[in-house]
Amino acid sequence: MGVALAWHGATAETLHVATPATSMVLEATEGRPLKFVYYGDRLADADVAMLEASGAKPVDAYPVYGLTSHRETAMSVTHPDGNMTLDLAVAGVKESEDPDGARVLTVSMADKYYPFGVDINYRTYPDADVIETWAEAVNNGKGTVILREFASGFLPIRRDDVYLTSFYGTWANEGRVSERPLQHGMTVIKNKDGARNSHTAHAEVMFSLDGRPQEHSGRTIGAALCYSGNYRLRIDTGDSDVHEFYAGINEDNSAYRLARGERFVTPPLALTYSDEGKGGVSRNFHRWGRDHRLAHGKDLRKILLNSWEGVYFDINEEGMAQMMHDIADMGGELFVMDDGWFGVKYPRNNDSTSLGDWTVDTTKLPSGIAGLCATAKKNGIRFGIWIEPEMTNTLSELYEAHPEYVIKPSHRDAVQGRGGTQLVLDMANPKVQDLVFHVVDTLMTNYPEIDYIKWDSNAPIMNHGSQYLSADNQSHLVIDFHRGLAKTLDRIRAKYPDVTIQACASGGGRANWGVMPWFDEFWVSDNTDAVQRVYMQWGTSHFFPAIAMASHISASPNHQTHRIISLKYRTDVAMSGRLGMEIQPKDMTAEEKDQTRRAIADYKKIRPVVQQGDLYRLLSPYDGKGAASLMYVSPDKNEAVYYWWRLNNDINPQLPRVPMAGLDPDATYTVHELNRIDNEPLPFEGKSFTGRYLMANGLEMPETHKVDYHKLNDYSSRVLQLIKK
Ligand code: GLA
Repeated sequence: MGVALAWHGATAETLHVATPATSMVLEATEGRPLKFVYYGDRLADADVAMLEASGAKPVDAYPVYGLTSHRETAMSVTHPDGNMTLDLAVAGVKESEDPDGARVLTVSMADKYYPFGVDINYRTYPDADVIETWAEAVNNGKGTVILREFASGFLPIRRDDVYLTSFYGTWANEGRVSERPLQHGMTVIKNKDGARNSHTAHAEVMFSLDGRPQEHSGRTIGAALCYSGNYRLRIDTGDSDVHEFYAGINEDNSAYRLARGERFVTPPLALTYSDEGKGGVSRNFHRWGRDHRLAHGKDLRKILLNSWEGVYFDINEEGMAQMMHDIADMGGELFVMDDGWFGVKYPRNNDSTSLGDWTVDTTKLPSGIAGLCATAKKNGIRFGIWIEPEMTNTLSELYEAHPEYVIKPSHRDAVQGRGGTQLVLDMANPKVQDLVFHVVDTLMTNYPEIDYIKWDSNAPIMNHGSQYLSADNQSHLVIDFHRGLAKTLDRIRAKYPDVTIQACASGGGRANWGVMPWFDEFWVSDNTDAVQRVYMQWGTSHFFPAIAMASHISASPNHQTHRIISLKYRTDVAMSGRLGMEIQPKDMTAEEKDQTRRAIADYKKIRPVVQQGDLYRLLSPYDGKGAASLMYVSPDKNEAVYYWWRLNNDINPQLPRVPMAGLDPDATYTVHELNRIDNEPLPFEGKSFTGRYLMANGLEMPETHKVDYHKLNDYSSRVLQLIKK
């Protein structure tokens, strides 16, 4: 459902931007600023008409700087004559429909004096409870207008007992959850990495309107800025009746000069509302994401082995063949050769050379990529490859030939990144965009069998300076980098719509809906430790569905934390996302391989529920109860998968019994344990329970596994399949 009441071109008009379960109401009066009136549950038209009578106080829907300068604003500009004010008024409203059924409502505002306009857009889909809003600034005058602030959107959130859920972290510890009441003052959540934007804070937040955030209840707003670059989310709690939420590109050092006739389009801010708590917001985002934003969101993902933690840079033909054989033998469907396969003058043997020299190293791989594709085919699996095309090293043929392609200020030595030599290419430069396009185009043209690309990005933009942009436009560097990246990825996707592409950025640096139209998934973290993954995947799942979260079984002791964790537990955690492996199978025992073979077969049974189902987070690892638990339920509620992981190894820990959620209360479900290692079945194996019972009581998980004495270990875990009878 889109807009219920249309604009008639005359005086005041109420605009009802509606999704199946939510409403946003705006008031557009010709000659006055656009007003925001309501966001929340879906309203009947009769209630829309009575909003103001009920006491709703319309506020500016997109506050601008200059005539109300005492407050935070969404946009500020400097006109060619130096005037720093905006005075915007509604000039028109129009609706359009995209080919996929999405409807866009555009409210055009024009400055009352200057030839400058701002369009505010709202996109809705007939089947998703998400509203995407963004702004477009247009310079219709002759001189250059400087954009100093240019938020995508603004949302006033009524003052009360409002909690903010946001995400923080760092490399190898991404997606941590923070929950706190909103108090006076300003909260700023931001990124300034330049190239990637989600290792540290995330550009997504939730607002719980009824006090402390709950998973299954409470009115909750979710907001995600869909952008690959620097962002800034502000929540200003001042003297007004509302918490003022602004989200957009981070304008720090990025003032944008808008030339005559130029239009500046901000990235979309996606909003949802649910009265089913944080869980409702997550499910709304997951559904919208899979159906409308994520590349191939409706297709199931292949089970893969990635070579990185198995062999690191030690790539050779025999090793790759052995890994392909082993993953095929365990039931996997895809092999991905990671870093280390390229470089002729400078072979890539470590991280200090060769980025940019995307030519296969035939001393390591005499039969080249064609040979690897043939070996994959022989094993009945597909082949994928790692690249990091936005980057170079000072030790590379690319850098030697084109030092002008890197981001670097004039008269300064560039600060170098990973390996002491890594530099970021200037994606603002069309020649660099071409170069990056051709990295993919050449691989795909020469080896059309390539099924999967792991696209990495392992350095921030540390040096401010474009060798391509004019002196006047140096402040465009970071924004134009991301425009260039977007253009290049658009070109790649136009030519190669089918290839699977993973967004990796030193782990979880590109977990943002902004890049998802081009990417099928992201690497959640370079940390593959299963226990820490429970926390990281928990946080990441607030806005991203399991299908997008690459989650791999790796070695024990873990390579990052050195923690020893059983294969059972490592697998049970990986099975809650897009399952893969990141291990040297040669080092696994025959018994471990058997166990993995069975687990992979089990995962294939539940893959549609995990990857397309609705997520219910049940017991948070942050609650300190000694365990964490979540489940996925198929949209028709015929099937579900329940996960339970212990998080400490205390004896007699008095673990809570975890009620399930999302099931059909009147249906009866038969329970079957997956990836089972116990000598004896669980007491409820093969037994049936009503959804009502399971949601009120759950099932009792034993503290440990019933296995032979020498196989006992800490960190027990369970995966249960529930099938409607
Ligand atoms: C980054 C990625 C890893 C791996 C290495 C290769 O760190 O996050 O998964 O691909 O690069 O150098």
